[in-house]
Amino acid sequence: MPILYSSDKRIFTIHTAHSTYQLQADALGNLLHLYYGARSEGHMDYLLSYADRGFSGNPNAAGCDRTYSLDALPQEFPTQGTGDFRSPLLIVRDAKGVFGCQLRYRSHEILPGKYSLPGLPAVYAGAEDGAETLQIELEDPRLGLSVTLLYGVLPALDIITRSAIVTNRGTAPVTVEKLQSACLDFVAGDFDLISFPGRYAMERQFDRRPLGRGTAVIGSRRGYSSHQYNPFVILCDREASETAGRCWAMQFVWSGGFRAEAERDQFEQTRLQMGISEEQFSYPLQPGETLTAPEVILSFSAQGLEHLSHQLHRCIRRHICRGKYRDARRPVLLNSWEASYFDFTGESILRLAEEAKALGVELLVMDDGWFGARSDDTHALGDWTANERKLGGSLGALVEKVRALGLKFGIWMEPEMVNEDSELYRSHPDWALTIPGQPPIRSRSQLVLDFSRREVRDEIYARICRVLDQGQIEYLKWDLNRSIAEVYSHTADDQGKVLYDYMLGVYEVLEKLNARYPELLIEGCSGGGGRFDAGMLYYSPQIWCSDNTDAIDRLRIQYGTSFGYPASAVGAHVSACPNHQTGRTTPLQTRAVVAAAGTFGYELDPAKLSEAERGEIRRQIETFCADAPLVQNGLYYRLSDPEAAPCCAWAFVSEDGARAMISAVLQEKHANMPALYVRVRGLTPGALYRDRETGRVYPANALMDMGLPLPLNLDQYDSFVWRLERIEER
Ligand code: GLA
Repeated sequence: MPILYSSDKRIFTIHTAHSTYQLQADALGNLLHLYYGARSEGHMDYLLSYADRGFSGNPNAAGCDRTYSLDALPQEFPTQGTGDFRSPLLIVRDAKGVFGCQLRYRSHEILPGKYSLPGLPAVYAGAEDGAETLQIELEDPRLGLSVTLLYGVLPALDIITRSAIVTNRGTAPVTVEKLQSACLDFVAGDFDLISFPGRYAMERQFDRRPLGRGTAVIGSRRGYSSHQYNPFVILCDREASETAGRCWAMQFVWSGGFRAEAERDQFEQTRLQMGISEEQFSYPLQPGETLTAPEVILSFSAQGLEHLSHQLHRCIRRHICRGKYRDARRPVLLNSWEASYFDFTGESILRLAEEAKALGVELLVMDDGWFGARSDDTHALGDWTANERKLGGSLGALVEKVRALGLKFGIWMEPEMVNEDSELYRSHPDWALTIPGQPPIRSRSQLVLDFSRREVRDEIYARICRVLDQGQIEYLKWDLNRSIAEVYSHTADDQGKVLYDYMLGVYEVLEKLNARYPELLIEGCSGGGGRFDAGMLYYSPQIWCSDNTDAIDRLRIQYGTSFGYPASAVGAHVSACPNHQTGRTTPLQTRAVVAAAGTFGYELDPAKLSEAERGEIRRQIETFCADAPLVQNGLYYRLSDPEAAPCCAWAFVSEDGARAMISAVLQEKHANMPALYVRVRGLTPGALYRDRETGRVYPANALMDMGLPLPLNLDQYDSFVWRLERIEER
């Protein structure tokens, strides 16, 4: 039983294989956080300390006890208006505009299986997985407000999830001004905060900073999770490394704006919290209405960042991603974007398909430019009917021709957007999020459709279905190419609901598509990896990681991404050189080695390559297909930090340790260089491993202790891959 309740002290204990989370409804009914760390038996209420803290409020129920203050006690769901002056999870105003909310424990239930959240993405797991749910009811009698705290536990995976549902059970409306999903209060500790800031074409760069007094905030106010910050943070011990130290992850299962905060208070205590962005959020709840805080995935590792990543990877691969392609090998694709951008015809797509087929590619994706009057990125978004003049016939006919070559067919769409120069906008100008009386802010010459409105999303859904029903289309690239700058829905009863409802609207359409087309592989995309989050992965098991296809830049992007997300989620392609984003030239082999740490595909015109290069690509695809199960299901090891080391190396090792693939790219070359060694991790201690190519045998302990020497004849940007197999004793 992973969830235990001890009624004498009203203590709840959630055990996973290697961690324990504990909370207590104390004598005053406040829900206090006791512990989240290495697995521990017993009660941790001894960790609480009480003192008369000047200027810290004492709840009325504490009577004359001036040592009881929520300003200093660790809590599970702190609200504004309790005398706790740290940043709260919930801010509520009543019908008269009065701020304040005081929640007390009312009841709880422990249920088999993990809860789900209607209309929202969430980790899924049943009782057969050992999963359980703890549901705690809190209430504020003055407001008639109840908050249901949800805790899901996947014990074997060391994963705990949290969410909260706010319900107005009173007779008057209330307004939720801030709603965060989870916090972790630490009574002591010196921590670093790790986050993954970036920008367009340079997403998820590793960033680690010590937490001092005050508040460190990251987030997105762009209406989508964003290139700028990723909704995933780690708090860790100052000295934590890949292989040692305590670390805690918070990963948001949400694709809209968000906020993560780490606050070190006056008593050197730390509060880490995560939730939806507060800005332009003000959500009225009529009597009987509810509001759900999206889920946060929590994970703890006492053995450093690598374990933490493995825990999250397993959770995302098996309990967030769904559908046929959760487990099936993803098709090797060729995308038309960097091959021809907008400049293609049906005939040239077919030629691309023929070339692709000859290389062993399995899926041809026709990117942007196939619909309406879309000759560049200033027109036609929203007009989701094929440009038959450009395609030289119907979309269905083109799909058939590509399929007749023995390839799957995929297509690009950007359903949430509209150009003013489109039939859709001309007939429904009010369907875009624009502020009346103010000329709209454009970005990439486009506006955002109001997915908070049913009629808008129903029409777009119908248009997507009409496209997908043209033929056997087996892949959809769902793109999003701008931030939401103006939040005004022409029909909303309250503008403070729009951003939240927008995201739920997007999820609804994605859910319906998944249900209607169970064979369809959806790849998420947002100008590359701008909406790379666990929310989108619930609907699309892979996401285009970045528009930056330069192999060297990709090392950093994929390194940062790997902390929270598995390689099976990382859309990665080999593109032409000089690279279109950086102008850099790297060997074809290196481009493939880097793309093979993801879903693998090509983004180039094979006709422009030499016969020798095409031969190399044929071999790359065969090799990738053989390695794919290891990449998709294996454990990922970051063997070096690409910022710090001249050689960037990583490994995939099967869960049972029997197979390993170690890849290294030489980022910097100097004359007469010292030999570089790649220290491997994750092998079976004491075992011997054979190199599949050379037959050479290596002792695992030496590989993990001194490492593998990188061949000295490598030039800058060259790469090397070792494929090792454990020698089984007979
Ligand atoms: C975005 C995507 C690209 C491509 C273009 C098409 O930038 O990230 O891969 O699909 O849009 O306009």
